[in-house]
Amino acid sequence: MPRGPWTFTVGGMSSSDVTPTRPATSTTSTTPTTSVAESVSVSVIGLGAMGRALAAAFLTAGHRTTVWNRTTGRASDLVGKGAIEVATVAEAVAASSLTVVCVLGRDAVEAVLEAAGDGLAGASVANLTSSTPADARALAVLAEKAGARYLDGKIMVPTPLVGTGDGHYLYAGDAALFEEHAATLAALGGEADLLGDDHGLAALYDLAMLDVFFNGMTAFLHAAALVGAEGVSATRFLDYARRVIPVLDLTMGGLAADVDGGDHPGHEDNLVMDEAALGHIVEASAAAGIDTTVPALPRDLAVAAIGRGHGADGWSRVVDLLRQPVR
Ligand SMILES: NC(=O)c1ccc[n+]([C@@H]2O[C@H](COP(=O)([O-])OP(=O)(O)OC[C@H]3O[C@@H](n4cnc5c(N)ncnc54)[C@H](OP(=O)(O)O)[C@@H]3O)[C@@H](O)[C@H]2O)c1
Repeated sequence: MPRGPWTFTVGGMSSSDVTPTRPATSTTSTTPTTSVAESVSVSVIGLGAMGRALAAAFLTAGHRTTVWNRTTGRASDLVGKGAIEVATVAEAVAASSLTVVCVLGRDAVEAVLEAAGDGLAGASVANLTSSTPADARALAVLAEKAGARYLDGKIMVPTPLVGTGDGHYLYAGDAALFEEHAATLAALGGEADLLGDDHGLAALYDLAMLDVFFNGMTAFLHAAALVGAEGVSATRFLDYARRVIPVLDLTMGGLAADVDGGDHPGHEDNLVMDEAALGHIVEASAAAGIDTTVPALPRDLAVAAIGRGHGADGWSRVVDLLRQPVR
């Protein structure tokens, strides 16, 4: 789906997919009813690299933006653009109809919620700090006990993409709160997905996406080391690495269907053949004198699955081993 200036999805479905039938878990409207030109007050707590980008996007969209940071002196650029800096968290929460928190880790969010004190009663809070699902759920309990309405959010893009059509945000929690503030949050640009009312869901998807990302980056770097050992530059190899991406994209669709269906057909490839190919990578890596752990991991998974009698199955069979501690 092309990314417009304002799109969102609910439960993984795009706004165009869900119109006019809506998932029962959400009452979110598919079209923002509030124009971004209509100024709404928003407070941003935490002015690190990301908090500053969020505050700048709200200011650009014309929202009355109040900011607070633990260490003073980080708001001057924003104040120059019209932000109002306050001295306490409580003042920030009181100043706006929506408070966005973006700090570093669960302890920091707890410190912010504690500092807000009684001011949390009746407040609307969207916490966009990265966390584990368990931390997200615990923070939601803390905020809601203090009387706040609470949305957990995760930012899926780096700071330069905040406020652009390429932004991407995952939310979980209070669907009515999301709907109420969707037009304000739209200032952050791109797509906003409400994943469900379980506050841990945005963190879960965030970490799972990072799992794909970091393993993909590590695989590329290992490949770069492998070709590099033979004098081929990473840049020269890049175009060939990129040719794997569409194949991987297609393959993931098949893997997902196999995993969900519990069936692992091996008619296109099978684990015995995969293990041989992976063995070649391990062997070539060892011969080149480079690290072998990256290709050895999938090779060892294939060997273990074959050892369980699944040699004729496809690669998706490996999920059985990943569902339990391998070592
Ligand atoms: N930067 C990115 O590209 C990016 C991308 C996606 C997601 N994120 C997420 O966004 C969040 C913020 O990242 P960032 O890049 O802005 O980090 P950062 O530049 O290191 O800033 C951290 C912020 O947290 C505040 N903080 C830390 N401990 C605190 C505490 N105990 N009480 C109050 N405030 C506290 C810091 O305040 P002080 O100034 O007082 O230290 C600062 O404002 C993280 O969860 C990160 O994973 C960042």
